[in-house]
Amino acid sequence: MKLNPIIKKDLDILRDSLSRHMVDGKTFLVAGGAGFLGSWFCDTLNTLNARIICVDNLLSGSDDNISHLKKDAFQLVKSDIISYKPTEKIDYIVNMACIASPPLYQKHPIQTLDASVLGTRNLLEIARKNDIEGFLLSSTSEIYGDATIIPTPEDYWGNVNPIGPRSIYDEGKRVAETYSLSYCQKYGLPVRIARIFNTYGPRLDTKSTNQYGRVIVKFIDQALKSESITVYGDGRQTRSFCYITDQIVGLFKLLLRQGIDGQVVNLGNDDERTILELAKFIIKLTNSKSEITFQSLPKDDPKRRRPDIRKAEELLEWQPKVSLEEGLTKTVAYTKH
Ligand SMILES: NC(=O)c1ccc[n+]([C@@H]2O[C@H](COP(=O)([O-])OP(=O)(O)OC[C@H]3O[C@@H](n4cnc5c(N)ncnc54)[C@H](O)[C@@H]3O)[C@@H](O)[C@H]2O)c1
Repeated sequence: MKLNPIIKKDLDILRDSLSRHMVDGKTFLVAGGAGFLGSWFCDTLNTLNARIICVDNLLSGSDDNISHLKKDAFQLVKSDIISYKPTEKIDYIVNMACIASPPLYQKHPIQTLDASVLGTRNLLEIARKNDIEGFLLSSTSEIYGDATIIPTPEDYWGNVNPIGPRSIYDEGKRVAETYSLSYCQKYGLPVRIARIFNTYGPRLDTKSTNQYGRVIVKFIDQALKSESITVYGDGRQTRSFCYITDQIVGLFKLLLRQGIDGQVVNLGNDDERTILELAKFIIKLTNSKSEITFQSLPKDDPKRRRPDIRKAEELLEWQPKVSLEEGLTKTVAYTKH
């Protein structure tokens, strides 16, 4: 299968902005590598000459995201991370394996919790046995729940309903963080934790945009079909959207920087927008005739989301570069292609 030209162009940008020297020839275990973020991570590793073992049960990911990768340096193992056992030496582990879409994780609550808790524990054990050079956990802004401090810094403890409809995801990630830091403290594992804020771009939920689409792909899909754009609540709730290439650069820097074991870092774009503003922006960008309709707000939906990214700026010398307009233009072009 050929690589989409929009993705190919972005991968050239990623290859030029990242250093190859720590990655070349190393073996990376990418758990959840057939998903949105995971497949971009695999693609970037591939351009940097790394060897990749992608472990994925394809619950929310797709073969289509990775089928173009070179067979000699890339291997897909269709397995659950809870039970996966490697057969060769691993140098780095990147844990992206967890369903991130609310309707989908609510459909698979036990599997989602198990992936975060038991799956992360299994990967940490693999890390220990392999004496790895780096372990990256993809955590989430959702561990802050309905945050009361905006922009939200890493030392904010969170405001999460432990038995609400989002708790499957939020609490699972909170335990995954605690497990990872406990392995760092007890065994000296080189763990780093990324608290990822809403990230979008080509390949996000291509398999099932209507049923499970996260907000940007859902709006683009509705706008291109001239269907009504469904906004929850009055649309004044906010999110901050990070384009995929910015997120991947941040994740690579966090994993590969020396001397920052045990660090927890927010990665996202701090350009905060209301959902209504986003809907209008997408209608304009796609030249759509769609109208906006309003539906009731889901329970425990966070009112505002905006990361405090000063720690990433200082520790990683990282800042997002792609504006919402540029990122959406690429995502719309990819969706139309
Ligand atoms: N995209 C975002 O905006 C965002 C925001 C915050 C955090 N994250 C985190 O980043 C990671 C990747 O998210 P994404 O947006 O790419 O989601 P995704 O659903 O596209 O990818 C997750 C991948 O993990 C696989 N997976 C799920 N459970 C598994 C298991 N038990 N064993 C093996 N594979 C399993 C799925 O099949 C899929 O390929 C997740 O951990 C998510 O929590 C993403």
